[in-house]
Amino acid sequence: MTIGVIIGCAIVAVIGIGVIIGGAPFVPTRKKWTVDAMKLAGVGSGDVVVDLGSGDGAVLLAALASGARRVIGYEINPLLVIWSRLRLWRYGKRAMIKTGDFFHAKLPPDTTVIYLFQVKKVLRKIPKFIDQQRANLTVKKLRVICFGAEIPGIKFTRELGGMSLYEF
Ligand SMILES: C[S@@+](CC[C@H](N)C(=O)[O-])C[C@H]1O[C@@H](n2cnc3c(N)ncnc32)[C@H](O)[C@@H]1O
Repeated sequence: MTIGVIIGCAIVAVIGIGVIIGGAPFVPTRKKWTVDAMKLAGVGSGDVVVDLGSGDGAVLLAALASGARRVIGYEINPLLVIWSRLRLWRYGKRAMIKTGDFFHAKLPPDTTVIYLFQVKKVLRKIPKFIDQQRANLTVKKLRVICFGAEIPGIKFTRELGGMSLYEF
């Protein structure tokens, strides 16, 4: 009984923290789709890939498998931070997970690709968020992959399955 309650609380904690702060709950992108996402954005050795709400690190692993130079995840849920750090540990300095609300983060200046699997309410704020980061970024065209939902009011440049690619 006690173990059941503990496991139940752990599951709710893993899935739910993103929701409490108004973001998406933890639902990982399936492996096939992470591969499609990298194809859609043409991720390669020149890329620094950022996942805003990085969950268990599945997308960052796909980016590394596609040859990305570096990956950075931002995750609000400490349990997922620990789990994804363990999964990415073997990549050393090429992979980093930062704990906290990504809306308060300053993205690495060499970011070239952003991945988002978030709810519409969050995606609506993304153009302003990127605008605020712009002065700090060195790339001319930032590629943004959205899975599951589109950025309201912005036209995507390409799509594949349930994903759209934007250029900012
Ligand atoms: C739908 S899951 C996607 C996980 C991962 N990106 C993937 O595609 O496999 C969304 C994740 O975003 C996290 N999240 C939601 N809002 C956030 C925020 N403002 N800052 C950091 N993480 C957030 C949640 O905890 C959850 O793990």
